[in-house]
Amino acid sequence: MEIAQKVPNVEKRVMVAALLFAAAMLALIAYAAVRLGITVPGCVTEVKPFSKGELIQVAPGRYEAHVVAKTFSFKPSPLKIPKGAVVDFYLTTTDIVHGFYIDGTDVNLMAIPNAVTYGQAHFEKPGKYQVICHEFCGLGHQDMVGTIEVTP
Ligand code: CUA
Repeated sequence: MEIAQKVPNVEKRVMVAALLFAAAMLALIAYAAVRLGITVPGCVTEVKPFSKGELIQVAPGRYEAHVVAKTFSFKPSPLKIPKGAVVDFYLTTTDIVHGFYIDGTDVNLMAIPNAVTYGQAHFEKPGKYQVICHEFCGLGHQDMVGTIEVTP
């Protein structure tokens, strides 16, 4: 009988200790968020230049294309650059995995959520280059095509 009465008391003490521990951890999280301003990291697509996708000229004939893939398009598109330009491509995606193959070049990348992949192309011939998604990404996959226009 005596043991049966003591066990619930031990359980109560353990429960109180566990609740106090959980409350202390929640208080520390609240302190870190409110007083110290610590937050969870965001996505790469929340910050420039990936918030919209941008083509930036960094020097004469040199460009950086920050491309964002999204079902079922690439931004920016069309990319307009002059003949002879060297373009560094930085690619990411806002949703799922996509492909990024520039027809007629060696650039063949994968757009991976919250990661940036890199490729470089030198556009010697003027004309329109197709950018093709080569990873099946849904019902509009076959229409996911971008354009690079190289002017003479
Ligand atoms: Cu995007 Cu297939």
